[in-house]
Amino acid sequence: MLIRQLQDTAADAETVRAISRNTFRDPAAVTPGAPETPEPPESPDAAARIQQLAWIRHLVRTDPEGCWIAEQNGSAIGAALSIRREGVWILAFFAVLPSAQGKGVGRLLLERAAEHGRGCLRGLICASPSPAAARRYRQAGFTLHPTMRLTGKVDRAGLLDPGDIPVHPGSAVHTHLLDSVDRRTRGSAHGPDHAFMLAHYDELLIADTLAGSGYCYRDGGTVKLLAATSKRIATRLLREALARVPDGEEAVVGFLTAEQEWAVDVGLEVGLSLETRGYLAVRGMRPPTPYIPSGGFL
Ligand SMILES: CC(C)(COP(=O)(O)OP(=O)(O)OC[C@H]1O[C@@H](n2cnc3c(N)ncnc32)[C@H](O)[C@@H]1OP(=O)(O)O)[C@@H](O)C(=O)NCCC(=O)NCCS
Repeated sequence: MLIRQLQDTAADAETVRAISRNTFRDPAAVTPGAPETPEPPESPDAAARIQQLAWIRHLVRTDPEGCWIAEQNGSAIGAALSIRREGVWILAFFAVLPSAQGKGVGRLLLERAAEHGRGCLRGLICASPSPAAARRYRQAGFTLHPTMRLTGKVDRAGLLDPGDIPVHPGSAVHTHLLDSVDRRTRGSAHGPDHAFMLAHYDELLIADTLAGSGYCYRDGGTVKLLAATSKRIATRLLREALARVPDGEEAVVGFLTAEQEWAVDVGLEVGLSLETRGYLAVRGMRPPTPYIPSGGFL
């Protein structure tokens, strides 16, 4: 087996995407160690495909030394993509094909990616419910905080009162504000990741008042990332983001630890369903709050 650094090429991005499609499908349909079944049909959502490829290339471009791929006989079998942002090491993607799982490939990939985080006292991962992933992360010194996910159709009757904190659309001119809120909440700015999110997500919402500041990215029905200096501002932003989910789309708010009860309350108020799913894995820090992490950038 060969483990090599990913290149910022369309071919490598497509390879990581293929690993993702073949690994993160219905867990009931894949058995670790079994031979690979044919690839699931390509999603009809071309925009989602383009966004995922651009995300992979963004990670490889900003952090080439954090992004690794494992190959067996010339075929890719797994990948780990990680980034470093102001002293925080972030694992953004980690997957091994079902046929190659449970043989130590994940451990080797994670070791390579973690070398990129050397010197970072803090670490963050949005972890799937996979028991193998949980084992790897705990063994790497991460504390696992179980997370909840809200999904469903937004009941707009629960959103009639907009509240007294003004919220307005944001753009690249707000980058300093975004980075400042990041530093206050998670201890490190997203930096170049804001340019990606601004370019690829439907909208950025900003609240900036004397009482505090915050922001929220929404893409379709998904609340991608929210950070604020107070629960009051965070609540207002989440309500506004959910109010703007297009009719007919399912809302999704994920990776909520028990610290984010303010978000759970907003979701329940507007009729979303709550379930447990995955973990927020942290090292050298507490879960940021008030904060809804982005799966792709934390
Ligand atoms: C998580 C993942 C990348 C790990 O890759 P891998 O090659 O299977 O990992 P390894 O073989 O190095 O290690 C897996 C560990 O979990 C253990 N394990 C595997 N299945 C397990 C289970 N069902 N319950 C408990 N432990 C389990 C293995 O014994 C091994 O532990 P050990 O090395 O201490 O013996 C891979 O399983 C995967 O792609 N899972 C699905 C996608 C996913 O959820 N990715 C994580 C996103 S956050």
